[in-house]
Amino acid sequence: MIKKILLVLLATIIIIQFIRPAKNIASPNPAQDISTVYPVPDSVHKILLKACYDCHSDNTRYPWYSTLQPVYWWMNNHIQEGKRHLNFDEFASQTPEKKAKWIRHIYEQVDSNEMPLDSYTWIHKDAILSNEEKATVSNWAKAIYAQIPDSLKKKKK
Ligand code: HEC
Repeated sequence: MIKKILLVLLATIIIIQFIRPAKNIASPNPAQDISTVYPVPDSVHKILLKACYDCHSDNTRYPWYSTLQPVYWWMNNHIQEGKRHLNFDEFASQTPEKKAKWIRHIYEQVDSNEMPLDSYTWIHKDAILSNEEKATVSNWAKAIYAQIPDSLKKKKK
């Protein structure tokens, strides 16, 4: 009985290797980048790139193990979910209200240590942000938010 279950499990694991959504890799689209809307200093860009872009941009760096199922599905879900909430590569086309919301969410998430996700920093140790790096990103987003007209900030959440 146990042998049968193991065989079915093994077959399932093999079969699911062939069922996979497309990778999150697109050709660069600089016209939509956040840096076309707000200045993004190198010091900030570097941090966003290593700690956020894998889930919040149109290009993910895939480590070898991430191509194995079911890791790939799990990662893909995070990427699709993450991009729905914030996409640095599709920033320019958002409504002004949405841009304001995204900017506010960036510093809220970083200040509250919600982002980057814990499950990500377990593996990507370089994405664990030092207090200085957190402050760099947070202060940058706050400075932008301060410049945004109040009329665009109406909706909380
Ligand atoms: C491993 C993937 C992953 C990484 C890396 C990651 N995020 Fe996220 N992010 C998500 C997912 C999934 C969601 C949506 C679900 C949630 O809020 O937990 C999200 C949501 C968000 C939101 C929206 C929150 C809201 O309330 O709508 C913001 C803003 C955000 N992330 C910013 C960041 C920033 C800034 C970084 C880097 C410092 C980062 N994320 C790194 C996956 C990720």
